[in-house]
Amino acid sequence: MSDTPVDTSKRTWLIASTCAGAVGGVATAVPFVSTFQPSEKAKAAGAAVEVDISALKPGEKLTVEWRGKPVWIMKRTPEQLASLKKLDSQVADPKSDRKAYPTPDYARNETRSIKPEVFVAVGICTHLGCSPGDKFTPGPQPSLPDDWQGGFLCACHGSTFDMAGRVFKNKPAPDNLEVPPHMYLSESKLLIGEDKKA
Ligand code: FES
Repeated sequence: MSDTPVDTSKRTWLIASTCAGAVGGVATAVPFVSTFQPSEKAKAAGAAVEVDISALKPGEKLTVEWRGKPVWIMKRTPEQLASLKKLDSQVADPKSDRKAYPTPDYARNETRSIKPEVFVAVGICTHLGCSPGDKFTPGPQPSLPDDWQGGFLCACHGSTFDMAGRVFKNKPAPDNLEVPPHMYLSESKLLIGEDKKA
């Protein structure tokens, strides 16, 4: 009996994540960067993942794999950060109080992050596990409200999340996107999966 190794299926969520457009009406695509840092062995062990974010520019999102899950690292623009303040009344859990996917203390703040501009989240919808797509362009567009400020859309059942992964009210997803344990090893190096607090 012979086996044909299949190693691409786990990576389809990388390709499924799409994004386009830019603030200010310039029709350039938001760059999408993806890397796979850990070895297969490290992934199997659930090891923490080191990520160099020195090349990540405002508006860019990088995806790494940690414990078989996509983890997003997004460098938010000042406009994207400003949008968060306007949305507290529209999101279901503005202060990340819910406990199903507990937000680490160091991310229980307005931006759900250690550094305001750098957002780290597990890119899996808290409803039934699809990976939401990037919808960073503000304004009216299919499946989104006319006052859309930019965020993420889970196409499976229509849950929407803001630029801090906070789920909007009255959506199927019961919780905000999970913020995984993480910490900075240096100014531009992140460790995903460990925060030395455990
Ligand atoms: S899995 Fe995301 S809305 Fe259902």
